[in-house]
Amino acid sequence: MNAKNPLEELTLAQLRQRKSLKWRAHPEDVLPLWLAEMDVPLAPAVAEVLHEAIAIGDTGYPAGHAFADAVRDFALRRWQWDGIDPRRVKLVPDVMTGAVQMLRLVTDPGDVVVVNSPVYAPFYAYVTHDDRQVLEAPLGADLRIDLGTLEDAFRRARSGGGNAAFLMSNPHNPTGTVHTAAELTAVAELARRYGVRVVADEIHAPLVLPGSSFAPYLSVPGGEDAFSLMSATKGWNLAGLKAALAVAGPEAAADLRRMPEEVGHGASYLGVMSHTTAFEHGDVWLDALLAGLDANRSLLGELVAEHLPGVRYHVPEGTYLAWLDCRGLGLEAEAASTGPAVVTELAGPARFFLAEARVALSSGHVFGTGGAGHVRLNYATSRAVLTEALTRMGAAVRARA
Ligand SMILES: Cc1ncc(COP(=O)(O)O)c(C=O)c1O
Repeated sequence: MNAKNPLEELTLAQLRQRKSLKWRAHPEDVLPLWLAEMDVPLAPAVAEVLHEAIAIGDTGYPAGHAFADAVRDFALRRWQWDGIDPRRVKLVPDVMTGAVQMLRLVTDPGDVVVVNSPVYAPFYAYVTHDDRQVLEAPLGADLRIDLGTLEDAFRRARSGGGNAAFLMSNPHNPTGTVHTAAELTAVAELARRYGVRVVADEIHAPLVLPGSSFAPYLSVPGGEDAFSLMSATKGWNLAGLKAALAVAGPEAAADLRRMPEEVGHGASYLGVMSHTTAFEHGDVWLDALLAGLDANRSLLGELVAEHLPGVRYHVPEGTYLAWLDCRGLGLEAEAASTGPAVVTELAGPARFFLAEARVALSSGHVFGTGGAGHVRLNYATSRAVLTEALTRMGAAVRARA
């Protein structure tokens, strides 16, 4: 059964009724293509389970391991991977809280956490606010993991004698890179060699587009001592319904057992219910979404070529985020510092496009080294909004010339 393209179901007027951050951060004349929320209605199965719960006042505490079972079955169906054992899974409030908890299990205050910049900006904030140091191992020019750079970072991370971890985004936000099984195997080999523990943020895993396939980090040889964080938050747009799972590989099971039990109490019951249903009954809706995102990523390529010939569009393999290299536009210089910045901070191209095109994008510099001069564009929207945004951006650039 084919479902409708969820990206074409809501009008701009309907979306503007939303009170979430994406829609409330800017005035009404701005098209918001920044924060990672999608312009879609809820998947019908998820809406139904929530309506049923509300109808009978079923708003208590979560019970059982249906969420873990649903993710295990999803992994088997979609990725042919039978590696999730519900006994090695713990409920966590959300992916970032879970990531911090996993880092606490394998590192101490003052230890180093390696990240591949440019990367999801909160990686810097959460890690440094938990008294760990971030060490960047920038992606290569092809926006893929550079193994030499990563090895050097691992060596430096361990050189002080402390423990070290590698917090990775698989798939990678903001570049949309989907790491291959071969790449992850090479990462695991390095991590083992240098005694670095891996925490894989796999929140974007359901959002791998045609032409690429998702490899769970825990499925690759050497990945058995790692942790993965999974949730339906990005795939089904459930950020407001907090829940996620921390999944341990067989050699990390004992570590996961040390996570304080109360951490799981932070997940919301309605969140657990929604995420479970999404993984259990959300495939048809997800496939329709992926087809829409695939079409949008092609459309974006055409729109960039037509309206922004000075911009380099790195075609994403997964996620609904596009990474646009605007350095060729010669816009104002970036903010002096890069790295841990407030996610809403604007500089260079993002500031220009907000002011002159009334299009809100995420500013590249907040993603750390390699991000300056870029913007991240969220294309989980309708073709009409995407076309209007790129048309406005092109007009703004031409008006400057
Ligand atoms: C890579 C990555 N991790 C984590 C999150 C946030 O997840 P959560 O709200 O579950 O903490 C996002 C949101 O965009 C993300 O892109």
